[in-house]
Amino acid sequence: MSIYQIIRIGDPVLREKAAKVPKITPNILKLLDNMADTMYNAGGVGLAAPQIGISKRVIFLDTGDGPLELINPEIKFVTKEIEVGVEGCLSLPGVQAEVERAVGVKVHALNREGKHVELEARKLLARALQHEIDHLNGILISDKALRVWNEIDPEDG
Ligand code: CO
Repeated sequence: MSIYQIIRIGDPVLREKAAKVPKITPNILKLLDNMADTMYNAGGVGLAAPQIGISKRVIFLDTGDGPLELINPEIKFVTKEIEVGVEGCLSLPGVQAEVERAVGVKVHALNREGKHVELEARKLLARALQHEIDHLNGILISDKALRVWNEIDPEDG
């Protein structure tokens, strides 16, 4: 397992539409492990494969309830109810952005065993899922922020 350098805004890989994973191979499992190491090392709650330079539809999240590995995640349903919240992104160090998101989502994906999984999430996890799935479509928080500001000390975030 390895810790990767997190790619920052300005690199074109963050703007690509990431490719669907046709098959769960040992390389995809290794990718998931490396994403976990990289994300925990950086202190984030979510990471998308393009953020370590791999333009594949793979995300890793942990909003406090343990690791969540999703391959080819798709948002199937969003609540009409929306909420504005403050988000950061490991690819935009020091930046905080107010972003409007659906309060709840339903997501379909594959897990590392290649099994189809369906999950319903609300609040923080729903927000994190929308944020990470945006990454797979080349979208960053700075694109949809209602308000953006820089922290005084980027090391805090
Ligand atoms: Co991000």
